[in-house]
Amino acid sequence: MKILAIETSCDDTAVSIVENGVKVLTHLVASQETLHAKFGGVVPEVASREHLKAIYPLIDMALKRAKLTVKNIDAIAVTAGPGLLGSLLVGVNAAKTLGYLWNKPVIPVNHLQAHIYAGKLGGQSWQFPVVGLVASGGHSEIVLLKKEGDYIYLGGTRDDAAGEAFDKVARILGAGYPGGPAIAKLAEGAKGGKITLPRPMVKEVGLDFSFSGLKTAALRAKAPKAELAHEFQEVVNETLTDRLQRAVERYKAKTVIIGGGVAANRNLRAKVEAMAQAKNLPVLIPDFRYCTDNASMIGAAAYFGTSKKKRDWYNVGVAI
Ligand code: KG4
Ligand code: ZN
Repeated sequence: MKILAIETSCDDTAVSIVENGVKVLTHLVASQETLHAKFGGVVPEVASREHLKAIYPLIDMALKRAKLTVKNIDAIAVTAGPGLLGSLLVGVNAAKTLGYLWNKPVIPVNHLQAHIYAGKLGGQSWQFPVVGLVASGGHSEIVLLKKEGDYIYLGGTRDDAAGEAFDKVARILGAGYPGGPAIAKLAEGAKGGKITLPRPMVKEVGLDFSFSGLKTAALRAKAPKAELAHEFQEVVNETLTDRLQRAVERYKAKTVIIGGGVAANRNLRAKVEAMAQAKNLPVLIPDFRYCTDNASMIGAAAYFGTSKKKRDWYNVGVAI
């Protein structure tokens, strides 16, 4: 089954064609990064307009690159939420229009669930229960899957998402945008151990966390920029890994998985790998290009995670 997948929830216009949920035939991302960089964050109105310009040429290009025609496509998958409303509407309307014209089913996909399903790309399999972490610019959640598509929220941020915290601290340090890669790069030049920032909510036993106090502490701390970036990255990643570990133990996970833009962070990847290895558990860490927003993960989630009934659902709203 070949799915043409569309993602326009934030500032990347992305189109992929994915076979049987695992084989990526084309993977295209039109990034708006440089446009938004001068504002230090995504401007929703600008993002929607850019999606509108990019979406149809990108769909055309995806078919051409995969040497396929509309006849070879079995379904269209699209991110239906969560995300910026104007941005989502562009993708959803493109999917519905093409579904109508080409007479193909349209599959609505939850963006966060898709960040987890990015782990399936390349053909890796998982065993239930799966416990995962989705850490992106808009969300940071610990989740449980007991069966395909059954995404249960266990805990998460009480204020800033991990990526958002990276972006804000990068702005404070004048490190650039997007903040995650900028902080990671800055941190490479640090020795470490020069300052200590507070670990958030360590005494609480739940699966929630918070990054706003850490952000303020970083703002007030007096230390060289590289040292600050290093310690900040360390605390965020320690916190995320710690909560993931708690969930893995509590829900007796058989597979550990991470996804979302922050999962592209090498330090976080290493910490999660070490945690899973210590427990002798398989860990799925998506390829870098499948961590940040993309449409291949939408194709994977649509294939594995949506019920038959939903596959024929033309009336795709933008809330899922
Ligand atoms: O998943 P994503 O591309 O978009 C959302 O769904 O939000 O995540 C974007 C976020 C941004 O906040 C960005 O700073 C962060 O992911 N990010 C990283 C890295 N690469 C991207 N954070 C830490 N380290 C990275 N290497
Ligand atoms: Zn995302």
